[in-house]
Amino acid sequence: MRGKSGVALSVAALACFSFLSTVAGTSEPLMYTGLSNYTFPDDFIFGVATSAYQVEGAWNVGGKGESMWDTYLHKHPNYTADGSNADIATDSYHNYKEDVKMIQYLGSSHYRLSLSWPRILPKGTDNYISEDGKRYYRNLLEELIKANITPMVTLFHWDLPNPLMDLGGWTNPKMVDYFEDYARVVFELYGDIVKVWTTMNEPHQHCYNGYGTTYFAPALNAHGIGEYLCTHYILLAHAKAYRLYDKEFRPKQHGQLGITLDAFWAEPKNASSQEDRDGAEAYLQMHLGIYAHPIFSGNYPDFVRQRVDNMSLQQGFTRSRLPYFSQEEVEMLKGSSDFFGLNHYTSYLMSPCAGENYQKPSMDDDTGVCLEQHPSWTKPGADWFSVYPEGFRKLLNFVNNNYVQKNNISIIVTENGLCDHGGLKDYERIAYYKKYLYQLLLAKNLDNVNIQGYVAWTLMDVFEWSDGYKTKFGLFHVDFNSPERTRTPKLSAKLYKEIVRTRQIDFDYLSPESSRYQSNKL
Ligand code: BGC
Repeated sequence: MRGKSGVALSVAALACFSFLSTVAGTSEPLMYTGLSNYTFPDDFIFGVATSAYQVEGAWNVGGKGESMWDTYLHKHPNYTADGSNADIATDSYHNYKEDVKMIQYLGSSHYRLSLSWPRILPKGTDNYISEDGKRYYRNLLEELIKANITPMVTLFHWDLPNPLMDLGGWTNPKMVDYFEDYARVVFELYGDIVKVWTTMNEPHQHCYNGYGTTYFAPALNAHGIGEYLCTHYILLAHAKAYRLYDKEFRPKQHGQLGITLDAFWAEPKNASSQEDRDGAEAYLQMHLGIYAHPIFSGNYPDFVRQRVDNMSLQQGFTRSRLPYFSQEEVEMLKGSSDFFGLNHYTSYLMSPCAGENYQKPSMDDDTGVCLEQHPSWTKPGADWFSVYPEGFRKLLNFVNNNYVQKNNISIIVTENGLCDHGGLKDYERIAYYKKYLYQLLLAKNLDNVNIQGYVAWTLMDVFEWSDGYKTKFGLFHVDFNSPERTRTPKLSAKLYKEIVRTRQIDFDYLSPESSRYQSNKL
């Protein structure tokens, strides 16, 4: 939705809402003939997020073990777009107190962070626990609690201990046990003060990019097999940690535990084409359903099962490239998440496309669709990223209808945000937050999607996987040339603070056209 300009778009001010959805795949804008006074209820969670490898730095301090990202980027220094790594990053290992102050400034009640598995278990296994790692997270978590900020802790945000990567990483069935052991250590160490856990961050991005392609470390490129093995064992590891928490820790710690899945919204390129609609559905099943269905319904979606089984057979494999769950595993998986953690950034237009576009075998080839983004969608910072706010509402509805309602749980949006090339006057980010949060309000109020909270990605500019420091997602700017990694609020930090404070979206606030902004100096 671009060109909101002339219309008075203060959500709070106007009643009588009417909404005309975008025609799929065209640039026809959303039309507003008035806006509702929807607000975020008092118990709606507002948070900000980071992840361990992207911020901590101190990669070898205090006896920390190497993660596979450390090892991979040291071996392949030119891997990232700017040849960088996260050896120092925002140096949050040393600056964590300042991070907490920034979260306080925003008024955000929750902080989503991840633990570095090799900082706690330097060898990956639980026979040796690092005192320094233990202390670091205890200090950070206590600092948050002192500031009245609820920690939402992710156990695995991609930085696998390298010794476990050497054993095959998530292609190794033993990883399920090692993850359970790690989870037990962590629940014992911090379960007294951490009440919201997620096991894995975005297994799809991790398995697809890292095991099926070369886009992320460990860049195995074991396409067609590696991404499915990774998917399978990550799902089982998640479920095992869930059952462990449920049985041994929940009765005394009384927390919630879930998983964070990610999805692009898949829009049929031509909404009136059945093939394109089928292609969009295939994409959602192969990328989101493959994780969500086992967790919320017990097994892989029939569509995925049949598609990979048939393709495998045609390609001469005796057994399917996608492993099978036993009945016992199905039971362990089913209902293994107390909420649906959803990360969403962008949307794609989908149409079926012939196999010659993809390596064979591969998850892409199995999916059989081509992705593009509409030329009218703005692209503020990266090739993969364009702005299509309506896709967010559609995705929230898809998740709600397929998984959330049936399980009587709620959605927590665990990541959403915009990437650009930097700068303190980040109007594109401001517009993005307003529009995406507005779509969330529509989903919540008009479509009755049960959404409990929203976590902005990210608190500050961080190391960005394959892009290094070239693209920025932060509410705070970080000066990566200063030894202190000086942090400065961007305009978007002020906007987020205002939304959290007022529980409303005021489209005039910090809009470049707004006279109020003109007098607002940084
Ligand atoms: C990840 C983050 C990442 C963000 C932006 C998500 O896929 O969880 O670690 O920085 O997207 O690319």
